[in-house]
Amino acid sequence: MKLTLSVIKADIGSIAGHVAPSRRLREAVEAFIRERAPSLLLDHYISHTGDDIAILMTHTRGEGDEQIHKLAWDAFLSGTAEARQEGLYGAGQDLLKDSFSGNVKGMGPAVAEIEFEERPNEPFLFFAADKTDPGAYNLPLYLAFADVMNTPGLILSPKMSQGFRFVIMDVNHTSGDRVIELNAPEEIYDIAALLRDPERYVVESVWSRASGEQAVAVATSRLHNIAGKYTGKDDPVMLVRVQMNFPATGEVLAPYAIGHFVGGGMRGSHQMPLMPVTLNTGISYFDGPPVVSCAGFCVHNGKLTEPIDGFAQPFWNTVRDRVSSKAMDMRRQGFIGTAMLPMSELEYTGIAEKLASLDKRFAVRAETTAPAASKR
Ligand code: F6R
Ligand code: MG
Ligand code: MG
Repeated sequence: MKLTLSVIKADIGSIAGHVAPSRRLREAVEAFIRERAPSLLLDHYISHTGDDIAILMTHTRGEGDEQIHKLAWDAFLSGTAEARQEGLYGAGQDLLKDSFSGNVKGMGPAVAEIEFEERPNEPFLFFAADKTDPGAYNLPLYLAFADVMNTPGLILSPKMSQGFRFVIMDVNHTSGDRVIELNAPEEIYDIAALLRDPERYVVESVWSRASGEQAVAVATSRLHNIAGKYTGKDDPVMLVRVQMNFPATGEVLAPYAIGHFVGGGMRGSHQMPLMPVTLNTGISYFDGPPVVSCAGFCVHNGKLTEPIDGFAQPFWNTVRDRVSSKAMDMRRQGFIGTAMLPMSELEYTGIAEKLASLDKRFAVRAETTAPAASKR
């Protein structure tokens, strides 16, 4: 059967700052979806990662379906009403438009969708990250789909040896989707040259070259591009199909042991290491560190199994300890150099305003003529 996985997420309010949505907010979203689901969805799963709430849906209506997107939008509106009643911080903050116009893309919520012919066994992973932007997945995807040091399947499996096609988006381009398609392994240096700048070039999808099937879908929207100003970090979701022609679950998870530095953390304006966390984890140290969760499923005839928590296994405790140390090391550097994001990525205007006013106080010192050297 041809199945669509759609995950749509938004920050519509949270307790104690940008930490976690309230239980009543989550229940409001869940109740709304449960009530409307029977006519549209085969199954759904609702979770939160940091202050973002995500609705994962299975259906047969294809990508970008108006009714599916409206269902999520209306569920977020219902959650926002609850958030306002409770006085949650940032109630409705990611719902940037007043009325729904066919598709939540460009309206604030993040979307990742894949349509595919369901395999007899269909395992997939749903990632959600908070306090960071979509480029946070660049390195883990490069390692999982293009680097044999991470993914032995690239040499062990004849199908995977045919490589993967990366679709990469220039997210600075706001009038339409500007994308490039590059093939691994032949073009890995070109892929790397783009992915090194995760604030601008973002992996949007990855495809098997052996079968033509889509393996990965990433939510690539950038809130500051939509709203014209920063309204928060984008906190991207991602779907990854695994096993058979695709990397194994462990090959996709392994890169998160690095705890690589990503844009995010305190006021959306700092470089912090990405911490893999268990499902439904909140935020703490320095409004971070940026977190990523992973729920693994099998789906059969559109019905989801219960989720497996990709980062709950004891192995990840050591990783979390290491990431905590990395985070504290970076914080010792305060506001200097790479600790804070470049000007274009700051969520606030304070520094730009200060620089503009200080600029007027700069003066070019009059050149002093050096005394002539005495001749002997
Ligand atoms: C992302 C997130 C942050 C905030 C940022 C601004 O989930 O919560 O990027 O958007 O910390 O916070 P306030 O609302 O204090 O300006
Ligand atoms: Mg937030
Ligand atoms: Mg968030």
